[in-house]
Amino acid sequence: MTSITQFYKERCYVTADEKLIPKYWHPQIIDRVPYTLHADATRVCDPNWGVHEVIQRILALGLELELPVGEFVADYLTTEERSSLRLLLKSNVADEAHHFRGFQLAAEAYPLTEDVKDEAKVVSDYWKVMKDTTPSIALAAALEIGVFLPSLAALRLFGGSSLARMADGISRDEYRHAAVNRMLVDRIGYNLMDLSQLVLSTVVWVFQGLDIPESVLGVNVDWKFFEEASYDLIKTGSANQLDDLVNYADHLLPFEISNYKLY
Ligand SMILES: [Fe+2]
Ligand SMILES: [Fe+2]
Repeated sequence: MTSITQFYKERCYVTADEKLIPKYWHPQIIDRVPYTLHADATRVCDPNWGVHEVIQRILALGLELELPVGEFVADYLTTEERSSLRLLLKSNVADEAHHFRGFQLAAEAYPLTEDVKDEAKVVSDYWKVMKDTTPSIALAAALEIGVFLPSLAALRLFGGSSLARMADGISRDEYRHAAVNRMLVDRIGYNLMDLSQLVLSTVVWVFQGLDIPESVLGVNVDWKFFEEASYDLIKTGSANQLDDLVNYADHLLPFEISNYKLY
């Protein structure tokens, strides 16, 4: 298993005097492009598949919960004394502010309705009140593993090239957060499955109405597909069926994006 020191090293660059400085994902202005499969401009999503509404809910929930997840981790940090872990967790908390900014830029390109913003606020409140009775690091882990990872995978799968690129950047951070936070949850002896009902209701809210027929991707991608992926991620740490579907989107080629975004 990757050690804490390794997780931290991997996210840092080394200065001339051998200091480790964390690198951050930097959000960029998002071009509004049609929703397509696998960021492929020729595979435009059918409006009847319900992807527009799902994407609205993913963006709205990101705006509501990215910063609170950082606060959950910051809350855990007040009890953590190991210095290597503190450095890593502090940089993970700082990631969330970058993610939040990414979602703000996404919502500027794809404006959200007032209704979806109101609903996302109700959903996020369910998570925030749990803090009174549940270890905050478990709430962060359950959200990142059970809700954010499937949602980011969905953006990579059917969000079009702009959102797929954003989701790809954020996912890299979230995989690290998920791994570290799950390890901390295990250490305090909490069972993440105890939060499975809340994860399930959130995932059902996000993915309700989704229906990409089997003829399009080889499997019927609907709310149930994402619910099972979320369950598998929480229970076992991986969801192979979801991985198989989204891996194409990991490799956006330079000519598929605007020149000013190259770095
Ligand atoms: Fe995040
Ligand atoms: Fe995170």
